[in-house]
Amino acid sequence: MSIPWRDAMSRALYGPGGFFVSGTGPSDHFRTSVHASPAFAAALLRLISEVDAALGHPDRLDVVDVGAGRGELLRTLLRSIEDAVGLAVGNSGEPTRSGRSGLIPPRAGSPETLTSTAAARPSRDDPSSVAVRPSLAERVRFTAVEYATRPQNLPEEINWTSEIPDGINGLLLATEWLDNVPLDVAVHTADGWRYVLVDPDGGAETVGEPVSHADLDWLTTWWPHPTSPPHAARDLTSTDATSQSGSGFGAARPAQGSSLTARSRPGRPETPHSDHRAEMGRSRDEAWANAVKKISRGLAVAVDYGHLKEDRPIDGTLTGYRAGRQVPPVPDGTTDVTAHVAMDSVASAGAAVARCAYSLVSQREALRALGADGGRPPLSLAGTDPAGYVRALAAASAVAELTDPAGLGGHWWLRQPVGIPLGPAVAR
Ligand SMILES: C[S@@+](CC[C@H](N)C(=O)[O-])C[C@H]1O[C@@H](n2cnc3c(N)ncnc32)[C@H](O)[C@@H]1O
Repeated sequence: MSIPWRDAMSRALYGPGGFFVSGTGPSDHFRTSVHASPAFAAALLRLISEVDAALGHPDRLDVVDVGAGRGELLRTLLRSIEDAVGLAVGNSGEPTRSGRSGLIPPRAGSPETLTSTAAARPSRDDPSSVAVRPSLAERVRFTAVEYATRPQNLPEEINWTSEIPDGINGLLLATEWLDNVPLDVAVHTADGWRYVLVDPDGGAETVGEPVSHADLDWLTTWWPHPTSPPHAARDLTSTDATSQSGSGFGAARPAQGSSLTARSRPGRPETPHSDHRAEMGRSRDEAWANAVKKISRGLAVAVDYGHLKEDRPIDGTLTGYRAGRQVPPVPDGTTDVTAHVAMDSVASAGAAVARCAYSLVSQREALRALGADGGRPPLSLAGTDPAGYVRALAAASAVAELTDPAGLGGHWWLRQPVGIPLGPAVAR
């Protein structure tokens, strides 16, 4: 029996035996920035350090990963923070120049340099004494938010929950989460927008009822049919928000060093269609607004592939991935079903909750601002410091895939501060 796409996606991805909650996890089927390179976690570590500073180095700094997969990102962050502190103190007591990865050079105050002693400050009771602030590694609290059950070998330092916790004081991350938030699909017919229904067994589509008032409202604002009269978007904050125009689409290609595909290819393979279709992002706006609402103070960051109003795809982006390949989006539980994210609409919904301007830039730009630029070292370095040249070359290639504008570098970074200035989140 045919049902709306939103219901079909919910069941297929998160219902009993659903694609994301059973089996080995997303990393066996496609490649995200999290899997592509440790340079991604290294850049996020720098962001964590900047949020920590913006919050005044609180006793507890939350790092919450929404849609955490099997906890891959938090495992890497945990290891990196422990390594950074361990190396900075050094078993021999010697200071070090950078963390173990060496992928991104350290900055003053970064976890690579922030040790207990470096953070020493006078105590109130005895100004001549030195009170030692616990290191970031001691103050950070990692939480994975995920529908799948907790992996058995996950380090105990990482909390695991299916609900975003309240009162977050720190950083909320969501990498390739929103594209898997189920949504409804509409097709434009002679009598206006109607729902597209799908048969979960084979993926055959039919045209259903006219869309609801709420969905029509969303379409009119965010995904108008090309023949509709122009309509001013009710974006409450975009006047003071920074944004970058240009498509977030990157032509997907096999990821370097992996047979898996990075998910960013628009369109639905092998499912011919000719009508104007739209993927109605209301459910994603609500999901993001709800996530932002859970932050008391800090920063929310969504990293995903998507598009802006002036650049919506004519017939949608709904597609599937399985075992490293792009396949038709059949919602039968065997396949990832995903659609690009209307990033501007999501951003607007989050900003309305946070009452703060957001920033929307490409991953390439965001990573560069965090010190990961992927540029090759000058050849002259090979003559003066051969070992340094090889290290710099390795670091550059680790970043290159993440910043490639035709691939992961074309993904969007939506940064939504809550009660802190945007500056630290985007500062170079
Ligand atoms: C595409 S995977 C991304 C995994 C990881 N963030 C990465 O970048 O590799 C999306 C994950 O989000 C999870 N997910 C989606 N919606 C969720 C929700 N509302 N609460 C918890 N987990 C969710 C899915 O189960 C899935 O593991």
